[in-house]
Amino acid sequence: MKNKTIIVSNRLPLNVSLPENEEENEIKILPSVGGLATGMKSIHQNSDSLWIGWSGIATDDIDESTRNKINKAIQQQKCISVDLTQDEVEDFYFGFSNDLLWPLFHYFTEYTHYKDEHWEAYKKVNRKFAEKVLEYLEDGDQVWVHDYQLLLLPQLIKEAKPNVSIGFFLHIPFPSYEIFRVLPKREELLKGMLGSDLIGFHNYDYERHFISSVSRILRYDVNFNTIQVGRRKVKIDSFPMGIDYQKFKEAAIDNTNKSQEEKSQLKVRLEQHLQVSNDAKLILSIDRLDYTKGIAQRLKAFEYFLTKYPQFQEKARLVMLAVPSRENVPQYQRLKREIDELVGRINGKFSTVSWTPVWYFYRSLPFEQLIDLYTSCEIALLTPIRDGMNLVAKEYIASRTDRTGTLILSEMAGAAQEMSEALIINPNDSNQIAEALKVAFEMPEEEQIMRNKFIQKRIKRYDVEKWATEFMKSLEATKDLQKEKKTK
Ligand code: ADP
Ligand code: F6P
Repeated sequence: MKNKTIIVSNRLPLNVSLPENEEENEIKILPSVGGLATGMKSIHQNSDSLWIGWSGIATDDIDESTRNKINKAIQQQKCISVDLTQDEVEDFYFGFSNDLLWPLFHYFTEYTHYKDEHWEAYKKVNRKFAEKVLEYLEDGDQVWVHDYQLLLLPQLIKEAKPNVSIGFFLHIPFPSYEIFRVLPKREELLKGMLGSDLIGFHNYDYERHFISSVSRILRYDVNFNTIQVGRRKVKIDSFPMGIDYQKFKEAAIDNTNKSQEEKSQLKVRLEQHLQVSNDAKLILSIDRLDYTKGIAQRLKAFEYFLTKYPQFQEKARLVMLAVPSRENVPQYQRLKREIDELVGRINGKFSTVSWTPVWYFYRSLPFEQLIDLYTSCEIALLTPIRDGMNLVAKEYIASRTDRTGTLILSEMAGAAQEMSEALIINPNDSNQIAEALKVAFEMPEEEQIMRNKFIQKRIKRYDVEKWATEFMKSLEATKDLQKEKKTK
């Protein structure tokens, strides 16, 4: 049998949803939202791989027969589930991963909480993942571990199987040394990651921060982008994650070719706004509901824009889609309340009988409706306070098949490094965002096309397949790195 790649991430590319009442007995398998899952999904579908991760359901919530049904359904998609109990979900996922690592790596140090029981659960769950990987690992297989929930996993696998090739990719920023050093258990976490043969980041800044933390905290020898770990060499490199460009382009072409009767209700309603006047525009905002995404600051900047430039009232509509995320973490609950209040305040203040300034959806949408939004909104306003990459920015530009549209993008998103032709803003500066909105409203079509042409070329060439291939090629090449050492 051909060697396979074992992909490991906390969340599988699918989410299991249990029946909501007695009459319904069907288990629903829905796609996961989030950059890791949406990006890796296209790679997984077209390659010889097995994906190990959590199904999104705590196992003590279900009986044996439901568990078997879930496992059968997810195995059909070449996925294997790691079972987590309710306590593990609380302490490992909501606790150590999302109440400590997530805020810290995004520079929200004031939101971090460390608890010993969270750390114990983090170690325990990483060991559980290691056991599952070892159960399915065969000679010649390689392992690709993803993201901050599994920082200890590479070392656990390497200790059990020293010859197996292990790649690790971090989908979020790696913070500067001055932030990272604050973390209790920082040595253990770095050593865990260094069990890999190759460690990848979205960009050079994150790579540089990691290397600096390793050399200052662990005092390991670093030679350019290679770290000496005992007798092994670990390579560090950057691979900016791309999207499935062709998929978005083709879906957008289909979408724009639809006859009036074929259009979704959402699309029809979006287009109605554009008919209000020649210069009416829709402004798109899409994220998981997360404090790192700057949604509240974005709403305040939009309010400021409508106040400063009243000529855009009735013409500008912010279509804001926020996907529920990590709802058990108090910061997320507080943010949800803040956003609800802000939307209410802005709509209450500016609405007229024929116009509501903010259209707010708090849910996940099917892919076709995501494309409705990308193709109908002439402006995308993506203003994260920190973001590892922000794939939505790339998906938006890929879906603008006639190349019109203006992207306003935060300089704090990893994607900004590849999209300098967008209107790049500081997400904390309401005035700059308001000015960018005005520029976007008034930008001639030729200029929009010229800017997007360059970005499209770049994101088409370096799509998600290229990203994965480059990573895998680089992982393969690390074998030569180890041989070099032995022959010396
Ligand atoms: P993150 O990984 O932090 O969530 P990204 O912008 O990198 O942020 O990735 C988000 C992914 O989730 C994108 O691929 C996007 O298409 C998808 N997504 C975002 N919002 C929705 C939604 N409401 N419904 C379905 N998919 C969504
Ligand atoms: O892409 C970053 C990421 O944190 C992934 O690791 C994660 O799967 C995704 O966003 C969504 O978050 P969660 O899995 O916590 O719902």
